[in-house]
Amino acid sequence: MEFKIDATDGRARAATIKTVHSEIKTPIFMPVGTAAAVKSLDAIDLMDVLDAKIILANTYHLYLRPGDEVVKSFGGLHGFSGYKRSFLTDSGGFQAFSLGDNVKINDNGIWFKSHIDGSSHFFSPEKVIDIEYNLNSDIMMVLDDLIALPNTKERIKKSIERTTQWAKRSLVHHIEKGAKNNLFAIVQGGTDFEFRKISAESLVGIEVEGKTFDGFAIGGLSVGEENQLMYDTIEFTTPFLPENKPRYLMGVGTPEDIIEAIERGVDMFDCVMPTRNARNGYLFTTFGTLRIKNAKYKLDDKPIDENCSCYTCRHFSRGYLNHLFKAKELTYFRLATIHNLHYYLNLVKEAREAIIDKRFNEFKKEFYSKRIN
Ligand code: GUN
Ligand code: ZN
Repeated sequence: MEFKIDATDGRARAATIKTVHSEIKTPIFMPVGTAAAVKSLDAIDLMDVLDAKIILANTYHLYLRPGDEVVKSFGGLHGFSGYKRSFLTDSGGFQAFSLGDNVKINDNGIWFKSHIDGSSHFFSPEKVIDIEYNLNSDIMMVLDDLIALPNTKERIKKSIERTTQWAKRSLVHHIEKGAKNNLFAIVQGGTDFEFRKISAESLVGIEVEGKTFDGFAIGGLSVGEENQLMYDTIEFTTPFLPENKPRYLMGVGTPEDIIEAIERGVDMFDCVMPTRNARNGYLFTTFGTLRIKNAKYKLDDKPIDENCSCYTCRHFSRGYLNHLFKAKELTYFRLATIHNLHYYLNLVKEAREAIIDKRFNEFKKEFYSKRIN
């Protein structure tokens, strides 16, 4: 993977990442395609309609269904889904956290009970790398120990120690397998600055046969803490990460969160918010959230957002979308998802242009001043 910084403005960065499948201009937002599909879209929508350069898929889900060997037999995620640009795969660390009682964790790895049929499965750091090699993802995340907040000091300490040991084992196994594609480590530590520092420094310091991680994620945020505390934790953590490698904030967040994190030096984002909210009738606009089911849109022939150049806004009215939503027509899900993802992709694109022009502060002020709800 190549990583080149194109411009900086304060701590905000505009960079270019090159994988074998695409060139990615940062800051970037990665649409979530957990089971090798972004819900309601197909690969052509992602490439030709939205021009998304990288999407996210999930190791845990694809291992359970259809099975990583099945995906491998189709030529990995790219051959299977038809999406020919980059994939990042999350490791299953987040599922261990969100499956709650169906998970048992120890120093060797994580026992899961399948959410599909209740069967038991064990994920070690090495097993996750094996699955990710079968999927052939461009960026592979290591298995980590993510915890809910607030939590005890003892549990946060255990989480960062385990996450470091697992990261080291992941890198060793990655090298044994030929060090194909790219491997990112994940900083944990809750909102405890001392633990964040220890976690970041120990991961950055891991070197095996002259090889280090290709990038670093900030994990364990947006899990119940206050917004400002999340921003403070990001601001504290990014200076401990190498300048010449990508920084990825996992699972965050609202448009505001993304702007705040870019300002603090983050390059990559993913979140289910644009896709999930679209399906629930919440549409993102430059003036805030629009609730499409509202009766006032029934006869409204304007697009969702007059400032939006997306496929949906170019072709369809609020009135038509209001009808499709109420009638639960499947077409609604695709059109709304396209709009919301375009909004997120355009937001990071505009942030990048502002960084290059050294007017990120003005851009941020304008972003906030336009919002009325
Ligand atoms: N998705 C959101 N947060 C996290 C995290 O801390 N770890 C992993 N693996 N995935 C995430
Ligand atoms: Zn639109």
